Amino acid sequence: MIPDSLFQRAAQTIREGGLVSFPTETVYGLGANALDAAAVAGIFEIKGRPRFDPLIVHIASSEGLSQLVIAVPSPARELIRRFWPGPLSLVLPKRPVVPDIVTAGLAQVAVRCPAHDVARALIEAAGVPIAAPSANRFGCVSPTTADHVREQFGDQLEIVLDAGPCDIGVESTVVSFVEPQPMLLRPGGVTLEEIERVVGPVSIAPTDDVQPVSPGQLSRHYAPSTPLVVSDQRLTLPPSKRYGLLTFQPADDGERFAAIEVLSPSGSMREAASNLFAALRRLDAANLDGIVARPVPEVGLGRAIMDRLRRAAAR
Ligand code: TXA
Ligand code: MG
Repeated sequence: MIPDSLFQRAAQTIREGGLVSFPTETVYGLGANALDAAAVAGIFEIKGRPRFDPLIVHIASSEGLSQLVIAVPSPARELIRRFWPGPLSLVLPKRPVVPDIVTAGLAQVAVRCPAHDVARALIEAAGVPIAAPSANRFGCVSPTTADHVREQFGDQLEIVLDAGPCDIGVESTVVSFVEPQPMLLRPGGVTLEEIERVVGPVSIAPTDDVQPVSPGQLSRHYAPSTPLVVSDQRLTLPPSKRYGLLTFQPADDGERFAAIEVLSPSGSMREAASNLFAALRRLDAANLDGIVARPVPEVGLGRAIMDRLRRAAAR
């Protein structure tokens, strides 16, 4: 439980242009008043995030959307009806009230209504939409507990609202409506299959470091500092080195590894997603020479998991 006095202080901090870390169903966010350019600048500063990487604006209900965007095409409307509140961010043409720093100068803003009571209550109490990236330093693994946030930011961040571990564990799915056909910019908590069931075929943004469609598509991202490879092969491991294994299900060659993280003993992709980032952090803290991550099937949430693993592996 979050003490009411702390919660009220958090809402006031947002109103006054400060930063607050808060839980969502995906990962912990680092929030500021989305309509206050100076407050939002604080997010980029503390994260060490390049200014070309735009932020998602969080609202308490779909009613907050018309304040931020000019138009909502009907497929976007259908996705909202089906998946909000939830782990889905929609990229739509912004109104002038959204500061350029939020969208990194783009004419569109990403908006989502989170399915976490604390997140929505904070937005309501603050009385403003909240711009929030994941509460980690740029390029690092996203936080799924309040402790992860404190480990990264320590005293730099006065308020971290702790509501326990995040339920979903991977970030929201980002879908753009800039083109007539919806485009998947980032796989996440709502699966591509679920989205296509509602709006039909969705195009998929290429990973492109030169001209990324979504700046968050930079290939190296979500990365532990220990080198990581994604492989389903029985790799030869130098005996003098210590390797860790990240695997969906228990492995039969576990004895070769100095540390093992099983993402889902019960074989559930949902459970695997919710364990992914914490497992990566534990392996990263285990003083290993390298991490071998076993691929998971690229269906459903497996797509988001593989996306994060590939980025963690990119050098
Ligand atoms: O689950 C989530 O989405 C979490 C929680 C806190 O809500 N937030 C999150 O934010 O993951 P962040 O900043 O770590 O990732 C935002 C992603 C990036 O890939 C960014 O490039 C993309 O959304 N994005 C944001 N605004 C955009 C825009 N206007 N156009 C295209 N892509 C955008
Ligand atoms: Mg992030």
